Amino acid sequence: MDKTQGSRTAVLVCQARAVAHGRLAPDRFDDPTASVLLRPEELVAVEQARSGVPPEGWGPRLEYEFLRATAEGLVPRTVAIDDAVRERTHPQVVILGAGLDGRAWRMPELAGTAVFEVDHPSSQQDKRQRAAALSSPAGKVTFVPVDFTADRLDDSLKAAGYRTGRPTTWIWEGVVPYLTRAEITATLRALAEASAPGSRLVVNYQSPSLVASLGRPAARAMRRLSRQPDPMAREPWRSAWTPAAMRELLAGQGYAVARDTDLLALAGALTMPVRGRRSLRSGRVLIADR
Ligand SMILES: C[S@@+](CC[C@H](N)C(=O)[O-])C[C@H]1O[C@@H](n2cnc3c(N)ncnc32)[C@H](O)[C@@H]1O
Repeated sequence: MDKTQGSRTAVLVCQARAVAHGRLAPDRFDDPTASVLLRPEELVAVEQARSGVPPEGWGPRLEYEFLRATAEGLVPRTVAIDDAVRERTHPQVVILGAGLDGRAWRMPELAGTAVFEVDHPSSQQDKRQRAAALSSPAGKVTFVPVDFTADRLDDSLKAAGYRTGRPTTWIWEGVVPYLTRAEITATLRALAEASAPGSRLVVNYQSPSLVASLGRPAARAMRRLSRQPDPMAREPWRSAWTPAAMRELLAGQGYAVARDTDLLALAGALTMPVRGRRSLRSGRVLIADR
């Protein structure tokens, strides 16, 4: 994590949503907040990827292909999470590791909902500056700075006005891979203790994948050679879970899995082309209720 400028992977996935907006599965996916949250220099790569015209030179080409591939995975992941949120309209939504998530602004279903955006302090400071460019949120947004490796999630939430007696939807999207197993277990324990009956947990995680574990160091080496910035340089992946291990972990905290689906299957239900089938197969969205 870059303590001075916040999460670079949060910028990357926001760029990917901006690339997908209006292009991939437009009948189901829509994120007009993404481009507003990005800075002009971050929008250059977005426009290039949206144009469909590959740039000259293998460094820029690498960034172009990577962004388009990331956009492919972000669409089914976003749609599945949005659907899970809509299915249970709880009075509280907590977004863990919120990054540049625009849900509180773009989902009308969150009107009247107390939305708590939890994130690393440096990422959150960056988000707050960027979010000033958005129009009013649908729900009431409270920013809660928490470092999952050092702070107590439940204490920070309660101090921010979170009510433990109310059913809550927790969204944990694109964060689990960046935490160790011990950090994930501790965070899960804290959120389970703060979950009233009826609460829902939506987790996006990575299952073990040879393609991903070989592909990431290869992409890193290519970026270094072509002197391209690496959004993952300070945010390495630290954990992957089999569906069975994730199910067991959640069961230990009183959460029963309702659905656990890979991104490839989720994309198959949408009208969008898929090129990176293997990469989508290892990303998952799990929905569990208490
Ligand atoms: C890939 S981004 C995902 C952002 C957002 N959930 C999304 O899908 O657009 C990873 C997020 O995890 C957060 N994160 C990573 N490590 C963290 C930590 N130790 N404590 C709090 N947040 C952390 C980063 O700040 C960042 O916002």
